[in-house]
Amino acid sequence: MSDHTQVKMTEMNYGKDRPKAENPVKVEDLSLRDGHQSLFATRGRTEDMIPVAELMDEVGFWAVETWGGATFDTMHRFLNEDPWERIRTLKRYFKKTPFSMLLRAQNLVGYRNYADDLAKSFVDRSCENGMDIFRTFDALNDYRNFETVVERIKANGKHFQGCICYTMTEPRMGGEVYNIDYYVNKAKALEEMGADTICIKDMAGLCAPYDAYQIVKALKETCKAPIHLHSHFTSGMSPMTHLKAIEAGVDIIDTCMSPYAYRTSHAAIEPLVMTLLGTNRDTGFDITLLGQINEILEREVMPKYAHLLDDSKMSTIDINVLLHQTPGGMLSNLVNQLREMDALEKIGDVYRELPRVRKELGQIPLVTPTSQIVGIQTVNNVLFDDEKERYKMITAQVRDLCYGLYGKTAVPIDSEVQKKALKGYKRGEEPITCRPAEVLDPELEKAKEEIGGLAKDIDDVITYALYPVTGKRFLKWKYGHEDVPPEVMPRTLTQVKKEQDLIKKAKAGLLEEKKEKEVPEKSENVRTFNVFVDDEYFEVGVDELGESPIISYIQQLGQMPAQSVQMMQPVQTPKPSAKAKPAATVVPPPPKSAAPATSGSPTSPKPAAAVAAAPAAPVTSTAEGTPLKAPMPGMIISFEKKVGDAVNQGETVVILEAMKMENALPSPASGTLKAINYKSGDSVAKNDILCIIG
Ligand code: CO
Repeated sequence: MSDHTQVKMTEMNYGKDRPKAENPVKVEDLSLRDGHQSLFATRGRTEDMIPVAELMDEVGFWAVETWGGATFDTMHRFLNEDPWERIRTLKRYFKKTPFSMLLRAQNLVGYRNYADDLAKSFVDRSCENGMDIFRTFDALNDYRNFETVVERIKANGKHFQGCICYTMTEPRMGGEVYNIDYYVNKAKALEEMGADTICIKDMAGLCAPYDAYQIVKALKETCKAPIHLHSHFTSGMSPMTHLKAIEAGVDIIDTCMSPYAYRTSHAAIEPLVMTLLGTNRDTGFDITLLGQINEILEREVMPKYAHLLDDSKMSTIDINVLLHQTPGGMLSNLVNQLREMDALEKIGDVYRELPRVRKELGQIPLVTPTSQIVGIQTVNNVLFDDEKERYKMITAQVRDLCYGLYGKTAVPIDSEVQKKALKGYKRGEEPITCRPAEVLDPELEKAKEEIGGLAKDIDDVITYALYPVTGKRFLKWKYGHEDVPPEVMPRTLTQVKKEQDLIKKAKAGLLEEKKEKEVPEKSENVRTFNVFVDDEYFEVGVDELGESPIISYIQQLGQMPAQSVQMMQPVQTPKPSAKAKPAATVVPPPPKSAAPATSGSPTSPKPAAAVAAAPAAPVTSTAEGTPLKAPMPGMIISFEKKVGDAVNQGETVVILEAMKMENALPSPASGTLKAINYKSGDSVAKNDILCIIG
């Protein structure tokens, strides 16, 4: 029997009073950040963390991860929650256990490198609000991107955990780039920077058990700092990987409470506790306490999120990760994007193109944001390239990457791709080799000026500086300048119960099924009406065929469709007007001859207050000229030109954000910009006419 399996049967019990192990494995719980980020798109609300917070504080976790990663983005964008407030609220319940956050180094909690002044202020404010441990990573493992934030973490007397993003190009660790020497050298570099702990960040669940053994063993021999393993379950290997890492002497392991565990999340804590019980690495955790926490989560919390779980597959593991060495979340994003563009059949092409694009872009690790950068560019290549030309539509982020704005890539970027990406690039056509933030202008003061009185404190300013469009919208909700749309409101257990009853009824055959009629094709004459009945709102399309108009479609818009929560873009759903009379109110669309609105919603002119929050409906009327249509669904970031401006064919007119990547859309013709149909922050569907060039 090895040391690890010496179970002292006589002294073994489940409780906390069992003898302390010689070298207990320390555990960080990720349920409140990575757990719900992995399983239900980071939609976990603070109010649903509170019921278990005090009990979790009793477990004896080394740390609980409560913040960072995608939480900041999701909270202010989709949950109407102030991200800063979450730290302060949870701190009132967790009195003993340190808080850990995932910090994307110079990317902070966003998707690009921010300027040094903003990065410093962000870290200072995170410390001030209650953050203790900063798990810091850079998507390119370029530690020059750590310099600014680490200086502030240390200055505030907090814990700097340095990450090495684990990635590979072969089916197992090895090859020319990501071999054992790579990881050992990265760990040495982190220790030199003053890392208090070193984390192997296996975000895709790629780290095989025996590779983990080899790395942990090597790092334990090289480094003094404790070694931490973060390995997602996605591929199904992580519980085995954990065990081999523990045998190799890993100090800290990441797990989730079982309702937040497995699939693309992490292995559960309970089986690990039982596995190590009575060994020299026993966690010492009270398994009955863990059971209590699980019961509350199952009963009071999980029902509110069950609708967000991806139950489309029976399989709890994603073997695509084993086949393609790419993160599970990235693949599901790609699938979502292809589906939105009616091109799901091209997924095979995407799998083939992906390793090629990754190699051309410097064989970079695939983790936020590089997974999106490589993923979206791959989709663009598959959808828009032809035999004569590759990289026809290059995202703004790929241009930034080629310029060196994310840092140094593992191998040099393909020179032809780089040259093409940097043609006409705003910062210059010659790539930089310095630390990226050195070329960034300070941005905090500018943000302060722009947001003005809408920001009441520095935390508000940072929210806006990180997320100008959605951050500003959130501040308007926060201070009552704009009504909070219903889709960002929390679900209650009562609502959930109502839905479940309805499903039960349906299953028992007590609900009558409506006969589906065949829907005729919409003609060009279709006119849309907004119809308000009680609290419900419908968009009605009326299609004139011959003499009498027929209603061609009715789309209920009162509720957010279930699948849209998976989308990256905020979904704009109209709010039923409080003034709407029980009787149907029909709001006619603008007459066809009317010139398109030059700004604002395309549904303007707005004849009634009721349509003020109407969605960006497809534009059917156009001015004379060539339309620039949205090649993909997304959110308008900005128009680079004003109405009346002269534009050349190929010149960038619109910046459209799709799947968090910015796409510069070129003008389809030369002429004058005649009309702009949307404004910054509007969501658009594929083929919506964004503007007219005449
Ligand atoms: Co993770």
